[in-house]
Amino acid sequence: MSGDLLRIEGLTKMFGGIQAAHNIDYTLSKGEIAAIIGPNGAGKSTVFGLITGAQKPDTGRIWFEGRDITGLPAHEIVNAGISRAFQVANIFPKLTVLENVRSSLQVRRGHVFSLFGDARRLCAEEAGELIDRCDLSDKRLLEAADLSQGDKKRLELAIALSSAPKLLLLDEPVAGMSRDEASQTMDLVTRLNEEMGLTILFTEHNMSIVFGHAKRVLLLHRGEAIIDGSPQEVRDSPVAQEIYFGEQVL
Ligand SMILES: Nc1ncnc2c1ncn2[C@@H]1O[C@H](COP(=O)(O)OP(=O)(O)OP(=O)(O)O)[C@@H](O)[C@H]1O
Ligand SMILES: [Mg+2]
Repeated sequence: MSGDLLRIEGLTKMFGGIQAAHNIDYTLSKGEIAAIIGPNGAGKSTVFGLITGAQKPDTGRIWFEGRDITGLPAHEIVNAGISRAFQVANIFPKLTVLENVRSSLQVRRGHVFSLFGDARRLCAEEAGELIDRCDLSDKRLLEAADLSQGDKKRLELAIALSSAPKLLLLDEPVAGMSRDEASQTMDLVTRLNEEMGLTILFTEHNMSIVFGHAKRVLLLHRGEAIIDGSPQEVRDSPVAQEIYFGEQVL
């Protein structure tokens, strides 16, 4: 299908007796910025895990740029162009910001063992660009452990960008942040979408973040896709009101 970057059909995943994803159909076009919302346990992170190859679906298929990526190992899915950010484990706390991003670039390129020479210099240059893009220029020589929560997230974002993704998945990108840090981080995410043309799918419980930044919203409930539409359509939907927004402050 032309224009579809990601296409999901009939995706189902059971954990024991729990239906974490049930027969989900979903597509994302190039350049979109969209959110998946839903109550705790709705299946949002499960969908991310299935897309990134962390989990294998019981049934259903996932296509990326027209290629069937269902069940591929996670590193092949990264190579295909899907990156998931905000996994703190990616950061080495004792390395500087620059070293973190550079070593990630080197690993992605298979340059782990060429610690000297051109490969290293090239990666350092590219790391510098990613760091600038993620508003960390003046922190490049700080150890990751010494960064604020917001700066750590920006570093995770720079690391996620080091695989040159076409689709970026962000699972609760501003969880635990102050209001200022959250809005700075989401402004950066918006810039990555608008300026780099990166397609972005994020999950979030804070509805002002969702409605302020997503152009399309998918509501999940008990593993099922309930409604997929514009923020306005989802906000105004009686079923969304009943399932989710009833308990939320909008
Ligand atoms: N690895 C797993 N093993 C067993 N059950 C799991 C596993 N991962 C998720 N689940 C269950 O699947 C359901 C969906 O979980 P998931 O983490 O996808 O929800 P979520 O929408 O991301 O929730 P939250 O908003 O709390 O992050 C939940 O009932 C959860 O307990
Ligand atoms: Mg989750």
